[in-house]
Amino acid sequence: MAVYVADHPLIKHKLGLLRKKELATKNFRAISNEVARLLTYEATKDFETETVTVEGWAGPVEVEQIKGKKVTVVPILRAGLGMMDGVLDMIPSAKVSVVGLYRDEETLEPVHYYVKLASDMDKRMALILDPMLATGGTLIETVSLLKKAGCTQIRGIFLVAAPEGLKRLEKAHPDVDVYVAAVDERLNEKGYILPGLGDAGDKIFGTR
Ligand code: URA
Repeated sequence: MAVYVADHPLIKHKLGLLRKKELATKNFRAISNEVARLLTYEATKDFETETVTVEGWAGPVEVEQIKGKKVTVVPILRAGLGMMDGVLDMIPSAKVSVVGLYRDEETLEPVHYYVKLASDMDKRMALILDPMLATGGTLIETVSLLKKAGCTQIRGIFLVAAPEGLKRLEKAHPDVDVYVAAVDERLNEKGYILPGLGDAGDKIFGTR
């Protein structure tokens, strides 16, 4: 499993803004999408291109285009929706596969309450979106679900990850690469990332 921690001044600056306690909902939303856009740039850096000839203003011209890559973005409900527009700005042809999960408090088993995947999952690269990779439980279940649907190329894009979640993901799904703006210190006793961003879902949706 490779973990790419963004090393770009724009991403670092924007993440610093997201950490501010008093940031307004509309700004949190906008900046989350901006960081998602920049992380998508990193997460697609190794996509292969091919040369094709198109009709340019002065006649035929050779250009490069991405080679036969089908992508689905997979926002994990609900906070993952807060990164979706940014990613789709960069990959407008991507299909959206939505996954909603919660953990049953008695059995502790993950329950899927909403899953709607794109077609041809075996032919697509899946880019999972969630602002926070905390314990990793939901992410691990989402990866399992995508693999069951035939997906073999899976990457995750997160704003902030906790070392604990990364370790669990590595154990469960070592073939999944991760793109993050930062790896923070640790989880607190309630599973929140420190220093983190707080509850990213609440901040994106303006709830409490
Ligand atoms: N989910 C969040 O929104 N924040 C955290 O810190 C951890 C999980």
